[in-house]
Amino acid sequence: MSLPFDLRANPKPRSAADRRAILAEPGFGLYFTDHMSVATWTSADGWHDSAVVPYGPFQLDPATAVLHYAQEIFEGLKAYRHADGSVWLFRPEKNADRFARSATRLALPVLPEADFLGSIEALVSADAAWVPGGTEPGSPEPAAVTTGEQSLYLRPFMFASEAFLGVRAAHRVTYACIASPAGPYFAKGVHPITIWISTTYTRAAPGGTGAAKCGGNYAASLVAQAEAAEHGCDQVMFADAAEHAWLEELGGMNVYLVTRDNELITPELTGSILEGVTRDSILTLAREFGLTPVERRVGVQELLDGLGSGQVTELFACGTAAVITPIGVIKHEGGEVTVGSGETGETTAALRKNLLDVQYGRAEDTHGGLRRVL
Ligand code: COI
Repeated sequence: MSLPFDLRANPKPRSAADRRAILAEPGFGLYFTDHMSVATWTSADGWHDSAVVPYGPFQLDPATAVLHYAQEIFEGLKAYRHADGSVWLFRPEKNADRFARSATRLALPVLPEADFLGSIEALVSADAAWVPGGTEPGSPEPAAVTTGEQSLYLRPFMFASEAFLGVRAAHRVTYACIASPAGPYFAKGVHPITIWISTTYTRAAPGGTGAAKCGGNYAASLVAQAEAAEHGCDQVMFADAAEHAWLEELGGMNVYLVTRDNELITPELTGSILEGVTRDSILTLAREFGLTPVERRVGVQELLDGLGSGQVTELFACGTAAVITPIGVIKHEGGEVTVGSGETGETTAALRKNLLDVQYGRAEDTHGGLRRVL
């Protein structure tokens, strides 16, 4: 039987005026809604104590295992409001599936797909007024003027909440999902970003946790991200751990190349690359744009040479948060190279527009990815 996610309503929700001000300029990851979904797992009782409760801090014992050994995973997906006011998720089953794989890799319990989806749908229903583009109760006016790309970002996560310092899989685990109204991930909006190819740091190695969405991978990326910033770049690109010669992914996004002969190439999944949902959606869309999708190893030098010769015409990053973000300049130890004209390429723009049009209900959902919540 599925877990129930009944609502224990927040007695002190934000005022409509506060919410309107936040939705007018949400940024990314700055504000949180009035509720969160929670559930507890223990080795003795399995999953239990599930509910949608008021958003608020956890009280953690200083010995809580996640604080010491980082036994933790998370997901990222969005709720989109369509023009008729309805609210939808996009391929949330893929997130449920990856959450389960991440859990297995981190020796955490698997949350069944029905419970993962149930926790999200109950939260989105409770906090429907926070999905950008809606109307305030009793008002015909939109709650806020949106750019057409705002959404409610959903962050399911699970962590070892047992207070115990022995190194072993925790016997008590907490699951939660929080929600945050979101605009573009990058503060400067949708503009080509600059990438630093790091040969100092790697993100993941064969047999490691690179394919899991665990906090540790992101912690490991931060010093490389700082290195990128020192070189005036927005994001870091990681190469493989063994040779520093093969492209893997950015700090929190996958990467794609477009070639002169209409190939759409992304590094193949090696076990150290995260299997992005957006990455997968783009592979599916490719043929509709006359592009041949290719998953293979891509050499760092091959990329630099291809940009120099014009063989590689466009480059972009992709992820739930970043959607499709064009890359304008690549910097590396040996110098820098501009991607095409440095502006957003035609194919990048077309793929981006199509993906968003499907997610926001402006184009036909030919692959059946949308799932209605409200
Ligand atoms: C996402 O795209 O949802 C991510 O998880 C990337 C980042 C915000 C951590």
